[in-house]
Amino acid sequence: MPVTILGIESSCDETSAAIISDKKILSNVIANQEVHKKYGGVVPELASRAHQKNIIPVVNQALSKANIAKNKIDAIAYTRGPGLLGSLLVGSSFAKSLSMSLKIPLIEVNHMQAHLLCHFIEDNCDKKTNFPFIGVNISGGHTQIILCKDYFNMDLIGETLDDSIGEAFDKCGKIMGLEYPAGPLIDKNSLMGDPDKFKFTVPKVEGLDFSFSGLKTNFKRCVEKGIKAKESFLKEELNNLCSSIQSTIVKILSIKIKAAVNKTGIKNIVFGGGVSANSGIRNYFNKNKNLNVFFPKREYTTDNAAMIAMVGYLKFKNNKFSNLDVVSKARYKI
Ligand code: KG4
Ligand code: ZN
Repeated sequence: MPVTILGIESSCDETSAAIISDKKILSNVIANQEVHKKYGGVVPELASRAHQKNIIPVVNQALSKANIAKNKIDAIAYTRGPGLLGSLLVGSSFAKSLSMSLKIPLIEVNHMQAHLLCHFIEDNCDKKTNFPFIGVNISGGHTQIILCKDYFNMDLIGETLDDSIGEAFDKCGKIMGLEYPAGPLIDKNSLMGDPDKFKFTVPKVEGLDFSFSGLKTNFKRCVEKGIKAKESFLKEELNNLCSSIQSTIVKILSIKIKAAVNKTGIKNIVFGGGVSANSGIRNYFNKNKNLNVFFPKREYTTDNAAMIAMVGYLKFKNNKFSNLDVVSKARYKI
């Protein structure tokens, strides 16, 4: 009999539920929270309220899309952390209550592990990697290089010291007056721009760690200077600014991934997280014939419950269940 898991994700501003049957995703419903757009970033209090409103309809939709009755679920997997505490609590309380009423096991999931382990979903990535691999988690909340020795044996070997890579995209976008989240818009505009038009400094950071806050300041100065010289600067140069900042971010990432490959001798690279949807990053690394590079399908890049259900399945098979007294964690090490 296949194992059927309900996955629940509510760590930031997406409420999502998914059903997996063994490694096959039967449904993956995601409710985006439009409410944050006008504030230029996620407002934690509003996110928790929207999760409360969304969670029941989203779970019901996931069950009906998968054509699975509640009593056919074998376990419930939910995001324990990292994320916004108020948002995490909505998902965990719901998962705990449902597991109690259905009398089925509960499985807690680390969101960052899930961004990488979604690689093993049946319809994700035509070819699968072997262990060990280097996991590159690039999202709105994190920028991490992770040595993945096995499903649940992972070591963080590099991370950002300040802003995440997604924040670099979003904050530079805000400076240009783009709507939040600006990453996808910068990606789109950059296709029509010149990546060499503007030069931004690549930060010098030791080892495998990153820093993006200086880049944002550098970018802000460039835009302010341009507007001072010519009022229409932003309008005329938007595509070139997008293309130049994106290519600088790709360069920063490539320097660190090269260093991680040299340090570990591992050439299998699995990308995860919202920023891994970026076309500049995909094109650059897919061209590198010395590496075995794996990008998730776009629907599995940004936050989704399919990845939580996938880890739920792997933990179910390894008897890694959790208790009702397990607490949510805003910071949760991989
Ligand atoms: O993984 P995710 O959905 O949420 C977190 O866990 O943080 O990532 C969201 C981030 C945002 O910063 C968004 O701007 C960025 O992913 N993003 C992109 C693209 N699509 C989403 N950044 C660059 N290019 C894209 N195509
Ligand atoms: Zn995420």
